[in-house]
Amino acid sequence: MTGRNQNVVSEFLLLGLPIESEHQNLFYVLFLAMYVTTILGNLLIIILICLDPYLHTPMYLFLSNLSFSDLCFSSVTMPKLLQDMQSQDPSISYAGCLTQMYFFLFFADLEDFLLVAMAYDRYVAICFPLHYTTIMGPRLCSFLVVLSWVLTTVPAMLYTLLMARLCFCADNVIPHFFCDMSALLKLSCSDTRVNELVIFVVGGLIIVLPFLLIIMSYARIIFSILKVPSVRGICKAFSTCGSHLTVVSLFYGTIIGLYLCPSANNSTVKETVMAMMYTVVTPMLNPFIYSLRNRDMKGALGRVFCKKKFHFFL
Ligand SMILES: *[C@@H]1O[C@H](CO)[C@@H](O)[C@H](O)[C@H]1NC(C)=O
Repeated sequence: MTGRNQNVVSEFLLLGLPIESEHQNLFYVLFLAMYVTTILGNLLIIILICLDPYLHTPMYLFLSNLSFSDLCFSSVTMPKLLQDMQSQDPSISYAGCLTQMYFFLFFADLEDFLLVAMAYDRYVAICFPLHYTTIMGPRLCSFLVVLSWVLTTVPAMLYTLLMARLCFCADNVIPHFFCDMSALLKLSCSDTRVNELVIFVVGGLIIVLPFLLIIMSYARIIFSILKVPSVRGICKAFSTCGSHLTVVSLFYGTIIGLYLCPSANNSTVKETVMAMMYTVVTPMLNPFIYSLRNRDMKGALGRVFCKKKFHFFL
């Protein structure tokens, strides 16, 4: 590999969203509002869980980690998109592009692993209710969170290092609003077969294994409910698993829609819309899915803010 001197591209141009210029301002306001909602919603969840001792249970500690991951995930792409929509210079440096790609992959995988940890937590809660507190102790919780962080570093690092060995010669226009890995691979003028193989194998493992683990936990949950069918049992399972299942469906629904239903025509538009879906919409909805349906979260909202007001008046 002759490396550096062939690597003539020092910056990339992000083509952004396929929006006509007269609608640019409307979408700018819309995306800004969505981003601010994402930040505030997830921050509120983290603060509530941190301040309210009733929510210091494994489920809510995982949820606050998930909110943190959502917050970071949409901050990897949204500020740059918003800035590019206003400025006339949508360029990003080579290093900036790889950094964005790294953190994008990092937080996407982190969310994936946290969803598995949450499924395991629900599995223990429903199938072993009497041993729940001993099994899901603080040590196991911290271990699962740390394991998620460590496991997610490996593929993100691997993909980014493999991307860094590629050369980019002439074409530096990315038809996307962030440095998407597949868009970058198409631009490269070196051989990308190794990258594609690694993405296929490692990416397959990262998507399929957690998915199977989640399905397995839910299969066990359903099985244990059906063994002693009772209306109360079913309601309880639904109320504790419903939010998690909704988030899991949203997460995997987008992945499946993106990779398993390829469409030949209009693929850039479809890819961009799907990318908007998982970078903006999913992180924004997660806090609402968890808080609106959830009595504990509403209670915590009351406790934390009323207590504050009380202190304030004293
Ligand atoms: C993530 O989970 C760990 C362990 O359960 C907890 O101690 C920590 O406070 C959580 N972090 C965030 C940001 O919520």
